[in-house]
Amino acid sequence: MDKIVVTGGKRLSGEVEVSGAKNAALPILASSLLADGEHTYRNVPDLADVNTMLKVLRTMGCEAGRHPGTGKAARSCTVRVGEQAGARKVIPEAPYDLVRTMRASVLVLGPLVARHGRARVSMPGGCAIGARPIDQHLKGLRALGADIHLTEGYVEARARRLRGATVVFDKITVTGTENVMMAAALARGRTVLENAAREPEVEELARLLNKMGAKISGAGTNLITIQGVDELQPVDHAILPDRIEAGTLLVAAAITGGDVLVKPAVPEHLDAVIQKLREAGCQISSEAGGLRCKGPRVLRSTNITTTEHPGFPTDMQAQLMVLMAVADGTSVIREHIFENRYMHVAELDRMGAQITVDGPTAVVRGVKKLSGAPVMASDLRASAALILAGLRAEGRTEVSRVYHLDRGYERLERKLHGLGAEVRRVRA
Ligand code: EPZ
Repeated sequence: MDKIVVTGGKRLSGEVEVSGAKNAALPILASSLLADGEHTYRNVPDLADVNTMLKVLRTMGCEAGRHPGTGKAARSCTVRVGEQAGARKVIPEAPYDLVRTMRASVLVLGPLVARHGRARVSMPGGCAIGARPIDQHLKGLRALGADIHLTEGYVEARARRLRGATVVFDKITVTGTENVMMAAALARGRTVLENAAREPEVEELARLLNKMGAKISGAGTNLITIQGVDELQPVDHAILPDRIEAGTLLVAAAITGGDVLVKPAVPEHLDAVIQKLREAGCQISSEAGGLRCKGPRVLRSTNITTTEHPGFPTDMQAQLMVLMAVADGTSVIREHIFENRYMHVAELDRMGAQITVDGPTAVVRGVKKLSGAPVMASDLRASAALILAGLRAEGRTEVSRVYHLDRGYERLERKLHGLGAEVRRVRA
């Protein structure tokens, strides 16, 4: 099992490239099941989760894989669906063994029942950051007329043809909105999604589906309207940059007092993060299709509350907590999306941070310095946060269980090394 070893104290500078967005690539790959033929996706990040989704599609009979070669070529994928495209007939089943490794596999449910009339998909179960039920996904699909049963840990869904309906989500859910939106694209009639998620990845998925021939309006707002069509076509699509990776790299510049240009990055996708970095004393400017961050000599404390987009993203909570751990003053962080997303706190405290947690609230008393230590990653964003802490700490930090990191960051240690960090991956 790999470890990432960081020796702190280096000021980062230079330019760094942001990969395609994991949380856009996953629903987009799943959406290929909506249309037979050859789909081409570009700027697909080389991540464990993306490779799992490709495996899920292959398990169903599709031909799905990366283009040979290195660099840009290797970031392109082709998915062939259906016998006419030279693949096998789609077997509408996502097995437990794959879904338990990546809960986003549940995103095949909507496309399968809409396009193939039935689906058998393993229930995802809980994860380190929370219970994460899928009741809203099922509520939406039932409203479109799917007959859904839970048996032996699987969701069994059937429908001759889905029909349009109004769905009011009780809770804003990103993948729930995406699953039902994909299903509604092929339903008979008009669907309205109320209290829908507004994340840029939802908008990106709607953009792709409309290129495939869907009729979706309002994505990016909490009211999405989908006029169902009879058929969709495969397309060639390039995936947008990862705003969470971009945010993580901006924090790397801020915590080392560095000067870094992170690109490509879409400023509007990061408004809430940029605002907090500025409150902490960073200079953030748009430049050359990216964002430049100049970190201050002394960071200022600020408070953070995670909410749905366009509010502050929960996927940046751990990274900003590390920044506040070395800021001047006390910050209050409130995690309102997931009930168990403070697993990184105990590890940061081992490095000398002063953080107390009480339910959804964490009080962070800034300290002058952190000390390097062996620490353990518990989930994807926590692993990135521990590496950021290592960049600032005195001495050597060893982050273990970095398989979490590889699920959502493409060779982060190499990117940081390219900016001057003393960081490397070691096989433990
Ligand atoms: C997506 O997860 C992202 N994953 C997560 O990113 C991200 O943290 C999350 O949205 C919130 O922004 C992908 O896009 C693949 P939700 P998702 O459904 O869709 C509750 C990362 O680090 N809920 O919006 O699973 C749920 O328990 C990952 O890249 C229900 O109660 O999140 C949570 O408390 C981690 N019932 C809240 O809603 C449901 O049916 C938001 O979850 C669905 C969700």
